[in-house]
Amino acid sequence: MATTEKPQFLAIIGGSGLNHLTILEGAHRRFVRTPYGEPSCPMTLGCICDQPMVFLARHGHGHTIQPDHINYRANIYALRELGVTGIVAVGSVGSIHPMLSPGDLVVPDQLIDYTWGRASTFYGSEPGVSMHIDFTNPFSSALRSQLLGVADLLGFNVRDGGVYACTQGPRLETAAEIRRLAGDGADVVGMTGMPEAVLARELGIPYAQLNVVANYAAGIGESANGIEFSALGPVLEEAMCKVRRIIETLVGC
Ligand code: HPA
Repeated sequence: MATTEKPQFLAIIGGSGLNHLTILEGAHRRFVRTPYGEPSCPMTLGCICDQPMVFLARHGHGHTIQPDHINYRANIYALRELGVTGIVAVGSVGSIHPMLSPGDLVVPDQLIDYTWGRASTFYGSEPGVSMHIDFTNPFSSALRSQLLGVADLLGFNVRDGGVYACTQGPRLETAAEIRRLAGDGADVVGMTGMPEAVLARELGIPYAQLNVVANYAAGIGESANGIEFSALGPVLEEAMCKVRRIIETLVGC
């Protein structure tokens, strides 16, 4: 039976370790203006196996924008202007859960927001307009299932579910802060998931995250006396290769 479903037009937001997608065919950049200012960089449009998609480097092309200075509203608004039907946000995280190690991949199903002072809504600038959107389940279950299904197909071990804690940054956390996050039920910690996720929800765009564990969070395991990223290069490179394969397969091939 012929399906009337519209094909997906996915956006990938890349974070640390994923600043561009070499697999994009016919890639070209488009600058999108928004009422909220400038996105992190021009959008890269292109195709994977003839399926159009958009890539946005969250920290800018040269990775120059810190998590607390990213214009999340402009980024999400610009993706909506391009007409994307879903967003997969890739981000590196520190591991809090004892079963998660550097190089592991996670598709979280919940989040806790510890950020402050970020422009985190499209509503509220006009007096008298207030909006309380539902955010019980912050990530799109359909997109999460697609990500997990593709990972399974490729034979990659990706953790299904987990609580993502979003901290303000740009500094890393103290050991006591991580103990507090663990007590709150957090499994991984990153700095960019919010307000990205809620802004996508406000505009009705399905949004899911694919997290790459970059390190043990402060005070945990090998990070008991400090966080050392330098030894993790090959582990992260291998994880990012898997992320690229997942994206490739999810979008088109
Ligand atoms: N904390 C916060 N954000 C991060 C970390 C971390 O340990 N690792 C990668 N992103």
